[in-house]
Amino acid sequence: MEILKNYGLAKLNTFGISARAKFFTEIHDENNLKELFILPEFKNNDKLFLGGGSNVLFTKDFNGIIVLNKLKGIKILEETPKYTLLRAMGGEIWHDLVSFAVSREYWGIENLSLIPGTVGAAPMQNIGAYGVELKETLENVEAYEIETGVKRIFKKEECDFGYRDSIFKNKLKGRYFISAITLKLNKTEKKNISYKVLREYLEKNKIEVRTSKDISDAIVQIRRSKLPDPAVIGNAGSFFKNVFLKSEKLKQLLEKYPKMPYFEEDGLIKIPAGWLIEQCGWKGKRVGNVGVHDKQALVLVNHGGATGEEMRNLAEQIINAVFTKFSLTLVPEVNLI
Ligand code: EPU
Repeated sequence: MEILKNYGLAKLNTFGISARAKFFTEIHDENNLKELFILPEFKNNDKLFLGGGSNVLFTKDFNGIIVLNKLKGIKILEETPKYTLLRAMGGEIWHDLVSFAVSREYWGIENLSLIPGTVGAAPMQNIGAYGVELKETLENVEAYEIETGVKRIFKKEECDFGYRDSIFKNKLKGRYFISAITLKLNKTEKKNISYKVLREYLEKNKIEVRTSKDISDAIVQIRRSKLPDPAVIGNAGSFFKNVFLKSEKLKQLLEKYPKMPYFEEDGLIKIPAGWLIEQCGWKGKRVGNVGVHDKQALVLVNHGGATGEEMRNLAEQIINAVFTKFSLTLVPEVNLI
């Protein structure tokens, strides 16, 4: 296994930030993980496992080892008239898995089309979009314990999934390397068009949903119209999580801001962070090399040549502005390294 030194990370994070890592390696075969876990460069340093780099902000050089998950493969494990069990390796591109599923008319992950990143990163934060979350179709997660090199299979119930959250981000943070996931996808129609933006798009364009690909195509169009392409302008999708609050706080806010949008989700009230940021006047604003996207205020962008420090300063200014105006604290969805 080759361990590289002082490795440039600009191409490995979708913000396109030019940080460096003290050590760097790639994993192409899960049998090499045991060997990696006992190397001194690994054992004696901070570690960061990276997939598509679409949810990290390097605020400085990383003084440890970065391990890129390049495990590939998508396999049908079991097929019945009703469902398919699909196993995908962690280094696969998430959208490639969606394309694999919709091209075979499987239902369940079409609403998650075009989410940047890899399969291995998906359970970390229980990716979600357009009314669907990964946890709804996930069967299990395969992961290697760093300390022992032993593989463990986490059933869905053991993953503590929440809004953009899982056990891998909390209790087990930094302790496992996610090697594969298995999904249970439906073979009979099971569409979810509950999300307003999606429903409106389908109605407006007179699209009658017959296959999961019809939904996937619609989501791709919606996302392309709103979210910047990281290949063109550096970004990591939503920089912040949406805000959840209790009904008393909602009442107070609605008295002051009667037009504030809110949504009920799992018995909780969700306020779109994008709206809060927009109300503070930040949408479309630029400060030096960084800024807020003009079509979706939740997305921070690198206009070119930005440092991670600049991006973090912008995020802090936005957090302060939202707190001053609404007494609500925005929490980054992106991992600050
Ligand atoms: N809104 C504004 N101004 C903005 C952006 C949003 O007022 O600049 C308000 C509007 O009321 C709009 C509502 O927010 O109707 C919802 O906006 P949108 O449908 O764009 O969704 P979101 O809640 O802002 C979340 C996810 C996205 C995901 C979309 C679609 C989070 C943090 N973000 O955004 O995920 O694509 O829903 O389901 O939950 C990502 O995680 O990287 C990501 C892009």
